[in-house]
Amino acid sequence: MQNEKSVGIIGIGCYLPEKIVTNKDLEKIVDTNDEWIVERTGIRERRIADPSIATSDQATFAAQKALADAGITAEEIDLIIVATATPDMFFPATACLVQNNLKAVNAAAFDLAAGCTGFVYGLITGAQFIKTGLYKHVLVIGAETLSRIADWTDRSTCVLFGDGAGAAVLSEVESGYGILGCNIGADGSGGEFLMLPAGGSRMPTSEESLSNRKHYIHMNGNEVFKFAVKIMGESALKALENANISTDEIDLFIPHQANMRIITSAAKRLKAPMEKVMINVDRYGNTAAASLPIALREAIDEGRVKDGDVLLMVGFGAGLTWASCVLKWGKGAKPVA
Ligand code: ACO
Repeated sequence: MQNEKSVGIIGIGCYLPEKIVTNKDLEKIVDTNDEWIVERTGIRERRIADPSIATSDQATFAAQKALADAGITAEEIDLIIVATATPDMFFPATACLVQNNLKAVNAAAFDLAAGCTGFVYGLITGAQFIKTGLYKHVLVIGAETLSRIADWTDRSTCVLFGDGAGAAVLSEVESGYGILGCNIGADGSGGEFLMLPAGGSRMPTSEESLSNRKHYIHMNGNEVFKFAVKIMGESALKALENANISTDEIDLFIPHQANMRIITSAAKRLKAPMEKVMINVDRYGNTAAASLPIALREAIDEGRVKDGDVLLMVGFGAGLTWASCVLKWGKGAKPVA
């Protein structure tokens, strides 16, 4: 461990579509109401991408901001990882489309499928390439256009999701900064609780699959809720142990923004006071893999992240998957040349 390179985020950017859809707007589409949505989820509004915009576009906008924030050029990127559950298409990978948009001609590129956990999976994966010395700069993006796979006739799911993207540039940073510890895991036996059943090799697109609305998100909300409440605390504690950091050393807890009740119970489990918890689920809903980088970018913009602060990011999602990352923020710590 001692001679390992320290890897951290040296630039971060996000993109959110302009169009705001409020709970009141949804009342006109499905049998729901603002009170139910706010009480059960904490969500008040979400952003919905223009029909001309796909996931690779949102990812590119976020990446451009992250590169500017890091002060590096697209040519300096060695690898692009796009975490998404809503790629532009099966193939080519959305990461390749982003590579072309950015003209990141020296970058390898692949997509990562871990549902809402994808961004943290991406951070941990990307960091390994830098630790080994193979690469210097890795661009990790979480981007989603969930409005395209939400069933706008199903009130139990469509009210939850939103569109957006966030991107981070990973590089070697001064020793003691960056990723201090992590936890990553999966339980495929719970895969059925959150899925998009049709359109793949198991259930190719057919008239039947279309008429049965199998090309949209199917979710057992209660099961996912129970899983999330349990795993967020467990995974966070394991990552803290891995980092050798105690819960009271956390300066900011940044949980996946899926549901206010899930966030509150995870914070309680970690004994984190709510003023140390980043929350923006009220404004964007669940943006899946994009949720954590968007929340981190906003926390920085709100002045809630200072050099040397210890951040704890925790994600959970389809798979079922989970991942946590303890990070000592060192934006001021220049990347090691
Ligand atoms: N408006 C009004 N009523 C609704 C709505 C709605 N939008 N949706 C459901 N209801 C009704 C139900 O029909 C049910 O009515 P009934 O009692 O007459 O049958 C009632 O509200 C209660 O429904 P529940 O599903 O029990 O409500 P619950 O309190 O569990 O909340 C929710 C549902 C918000 C979906 C919750 O279970 C949840 O947040 N689960 C986790 C979901 C999640 O985080 N998913 C993302 C995972 S990450 C990823 O990878 C994408």
